[in-house]
Amino acid sequence: MKKMLSIAFAWLSFNSLSAQNTSVQNIEPRLEALLAKMTLDEKIGQLNQVVGDISTGTEVRSDGLLAQIRAGKVGSVLSHTNFDNKTAIQQVAVRESRLGIPILFGFDVIHGYKTIFPIPLAQAATWNLAAIERAERIAAAEAAADGQHWTFSPMVDITHDPRWGRVMEGAGEDPWYGSLVAQARIRSFQGDDLSAVNTLAACAKHFAGYGFTEGGREYNTVDMSEQRLRQLVLPPFEAAVQAGCATFMNAFNTLNGVPASMNKHLVSDILRGEWGFRGLVVSDWNSFGETIIHGAAADDVDASAKCLSAGSDMDMAGGTFQRGLQKALAQGRVSEQQIDDAVRRVLRLKFALGLFDDPFRYLNPNRRAQTLEKPEYRQASREMAAESMVLLKNDGGLLPLDPKGPFRKIALIGPYVNSIGHKDYMSFWTLGLGNPQYDSTKVVTPAQALKPRLEEMGFEVTVTEVCLDANCDEKALSAALNAAREADLVIACLGERGIDCGESRCVSTLELPRGQERLLQVVSRNNKPTVMVLFNSRPLAFPWASENVPAILVAWQPGFEAGNALADVLTGSVNPSGKLTVTFPRNTGQIPLYYNHLNTGRPQANFGQMWTSGYLDVPNTPAYPFGYGLSYTTFGYSGLTLSKTAIGPGETLEVSVTVANTGKVTGQEVAQLYIRDPAADIARPVKELKGFEKIRLAPGERRTLTFKLSAKDLAYWNHEGRFKADSGQFRVFAGGNSVEVLEAEFELKE
Ligand code: NOJ
Repeated sequence: MKKMLSIAFAWLSFNSLSAQNTSVQNIEPRLEALLAKMTLDEKIGQLNQVVGDISTGTEVRSDGLLAQIRAGKVGSVLSHTNFDNKTAIQQVAVRESRLGIPILFGFDVIHGYKTIFPIPLAQAATWNLAAIERAERIAAAEAAADGQHWTFSPMVDITHDPRWGRVMEGAGEDPWYGSLVAQARIRSFQGDDLSAVNTLAACAKHFAGYGFTEGGREYNTVDMSEQRLRQLVLPPFEAAVQAGCATFMNAFNTLNGVPASMNKHLVSDILRGEWGFRGLVVSDWNSFGETIIHGAAADDVDASAKCLSAGSDMDMAGGTFQRGLQKALAQGRVSEQQIDDAVRRVLRLKFALGLFDDPFRYLNPNRRAQTLEKPEYRQASREMAAESMVLLKNDGGLLPLDPKGPFRKIALIGPYVNSIGHKDYMSFWTLGLGNPQYDSTKVVTPAQALKPRLEEMGFEVTVTEVCLDANCDEKALSAALNAAREADLVIACLGERGIDCGESRCVSTLELPRGQERLLQVVSRNNKPTVMVLFNSRPLAFPWASENVPAILVAWQPGFEAGNALADVLTGSVNPSGKLTVTFPRNTGQIPLYYNHLNTGRPQANFGQMWTSGYLDVPNTPAYPFGYGLSYTTFGYSGLTLSKTAIGPGETLEVSVTVANTGKVTGQEVAQLYIRDPAADIARPVKELKGFEKIRLAPGERRTLTFKLSAKDLAYWNHEGRFKADSGQFRVFAGGNSVEVLEAEFELKE
């Protein structure tokens, strides 16, 4: 047995707001002076967040909003779209409430604000943190110019279950990569000054465990070991604290029986205690009230006492604190000190945003007019959408479409070829909430962009929209079939509706709808080479297409520039470079399927092998693994070399690998570095991502990349409740995805 080596990590404790280089000076004395003037009612009012003009949850409406604000009973308004009304609300708060405390406006800025970008999962597939930062800077600039102060983003939940509708909102299945993406988003939302007129306060959500909801079913139970929690779920949240994230949001779920909003272990012990987070914690939509429905609180008083004592501060949409907190104080269940501390966290954020200096600083109509929907924002969205697309298959180099090739007539078919006004190519966040500010006609559809583009190149193009739902309609099929018959090549735009992407949009099956698969089958009977383009918000399963369709491109839900970005990729003006950050399974029954799994005592080497951990009807391998994605060129990996054969705890190992462009066009490659501890004191994953670099190489060009590994990268949360690395042998892997890798070994010495 190996000897344990204890690595003590200095976890950085940040006061998230003082980490901001805010121009607002001397917050604390001003804050204390204000707090001293507040009545208990006014304090509890600051902890109350009410619903604005659109609903993003169960029907809890805020009646008499202005009257409540005037009475000092509201600290924050969420999901308010109308600019002029926001100004009116702020006027009432500042001019008509006793203490004139400004309102804090919060909004779900999930993938763009006015200019819609690809969904977050697609953004993650770019493996381009600079592009993600650019997208969030634009989203922040637009939202802040429209009067918002605070985004309920990023969602940093890791998940292993793509049935869960919110898989679209995260960075995928890997906690290390998820941490980097979380930090990139927070950095760019917040900038280095929260009071700047183009930044927003960020909110890391949902704390914690929400991505591991049983069966991938929304709002369901989460039960997991502390080891799993620390290793898989919490790293992106801790990374968020380290990046100075201003706020956190509770999760809806219970974690090991305790609703997250009243979970002391999570909020007091870990977030505030271990990580030193001093910012605001907001509930999720009525999640304080839902502690009663979970069966973990008796009534509003009990729920209020439990949630506040756990360290949560602000009550979103539920009004539980309004009804219960005063009584909880009277009964001695909470102290005034606890209420004051929560109020301080709300006021501190308002000060940091500059709202006490100028409550209307984000409500300038001229700035709004100059900032929203700039043409360069759309260009950024288009570039990101193209970079996020993942080429899964390209037999015989069918793509990019070549006017000098054998195909002249192209048929564009499928339900998502020209879906105008149907709210596709985006998500439920931008479409499904009755939100008047999203206009789905602003989307450039595949047909709108591809038809002229391909015709310019000399192709003849037909467009046949086929509305297919679960059951394929025979008439629609025959129209598509006719179009396909006349063509030399078919581009089938399939996948999911935009409206099926987001919160409360879970599915029990990931298979491509039967009608869509039938469409492909009928077309294939005519021997027409087909390109399947998927518009999707989650990994889907399409075994027949994987077997029979020569080219498959995952386009995700790409946002406003869907068609242009698709045209860029299909015509080769952009060489695809996206790689999966979620595993694509062969069928739904394989879920949960993820690359960083444990080995088991009986791993299956070959499908069908008896007495091993496997299924009778499907291999254990995925359809497309984590990290996978093709290019129009090819890349070769060679010369994996380590700077040393052994390192001590304080030393760094350099791992070098040479990547060569072995194809005929310039392309970008995401080189990935993984490790494995094959004999630790507890079982460790078969692979764990620890490094990546995205590089551009011309044909014939090669570059040697060097990654650094230290003992910290080898550590894990062990059964003694600490991050530790075990001394002994480690494996290191480098390659273009999590399966096809070169391998070497080194030792970590005591
Ligand atoms: C519920 C969602 O879980 C959360 O992510 C969102 O920010 C709030 N509703 C507000 O819309």
